[in-house]
Amino acid sequence: MQPFTRFSSVTSKTDLARLDFDWHEKDLPERDRTKHVHRLHPYLGKYVPQLVEVFLRKYARRIVLDPFSGSGTTLVEASTLGFDAVGVDVSLFNCLLAKVKTDVYDVQKLEREARDIAQAFLDEPASDEAGTPYLREWLHPRSLRELLRFRRLIRGRRYEDLYKVVLCRSARSARLAPHHELDFPKEPVSGPYRCRKHSRLCRPTQGAAKFLRRYLEDTLERVREYARLRKPVSVRLLHGDARSLRLPLVDTVMTSPPYVGLIDYHEQHRYAYELLGLPRHDGSEIGPASRGSSRKAKADYREGIAAVFANCARRLEKGGHAVIVVGDRHDLYSDLHKECGFELVDRFERHVNRRTGLRSHDFYESILVWRR
Ligand SMILES: C[S@@+](CC[C@H](N)C(=O)[O-])C[C@H]1O[C@@H](n2cnc3c(N)ncnc32)[C@H](O)[C@@H]1O
Repeated sequence: MQPFTRFSSVTSKTDLARLDFDWHEKDLPERDRTKHVHRLHPYLGKYVPQLVEVFLRKYARRIVLDPFSGSGTTLVEASTLGFDAVGVDVSLFNCLLAKVKTDVYDVQKLEREARDIAQAFLDEPASDEAGTPYLREWLHPRSLRELLRFRRLIRGRRYEDLYKVVLCRSARSARLAPHHELDFPKEPVSGPYRCRKHSRLCRPTQGAAKFLRRYLEDTLERVREYARLRKPVSVRLLHGDARSLRLPLVDTVMTSPPYVGLIDYHEQHRYAYELLGLPRHDGSEIGPASRGSSRKAKADYREGIAAVFANCARRLEKGGHAVIVVGDRHDLYSDLHKECGFELVDRFERHVNRRTGLRSHDFYESILVWRR
């Protein structure tokens, strides 16, 4: 069987059990998985937009909820398919990122403003702000000066939130992190080092201006493309804990929950929290890496996830579906639907092929379809 790629042909009548979602790089290349705004900022733990598209085409009717919206994949796909969407996330930076991806832009005004910022960046005197100890430790003094100058320049602008994302993406690239440790850097490097990603001697970067310029351009390009596809629907982001937040009424839930003990979602964007001065809510994350995957951690995780889906069930139309994409190697989801007011309709297993890089292990992902 050939992996399925005729995504736009899916309708509510399509029998998904007949389709193969085990894409290899050649079937679904990275440039398609990171099309338009999906690549405005790196984010560990994203799911594949085309998978979301297939399941939304099959099950969504008018309004979709993602209680773990992360970088906003569900919301971006829903908005290009013509569904209203609501996303919830406990991390403020993730909410900002998803909002920026799905906002409506006057593209001409945005381009004018961005040009103005790029020009002012050249004329503006260096910033005399100092930055936090973390930023001083992880950024070369020149990079930090440039980032703080940009931060000052974007304050109060019409599309400030979008530039904040450009700022954070540039800071991430400018960090004194070895290339082979960009996801989880342990210590800043101060001189040339043996790079395990490029198999040669690499040097830490000493400036952020080139990243700011490059990412500003790239962001405009991506937003332009998305603006052509986005339908006039409503997209809302709610910041908070999905276990207890009051949710709106919806007809479909589409989500990928955190995996137990794998990622610290606030910590992975620490530079962003420091640069933007955002408050953190690490303690409300379900299943963070910092709590590991002990028996107790797994039990807490399961309880937390059950509380989120019970909360969703209260606001989901009777007969509405919840599609949950999760790596369930600890078998924590088998009977979970019964505890949260759902019946199990389907369960697909998908072989996830990782292409290259240091995280290139293969694994299985389950797609659970529950009905209210
Ligand atoms: C696997 S990621 C979702 C990724 C998303 N599907 C995407 O493609 O970007 C899980 C998300 O759940 C969020 N999260 C963890 N605990 C939460 C909680 N108690 N309430 C709401 N969101 C939470 C994390 O911040 C993270 O963004």
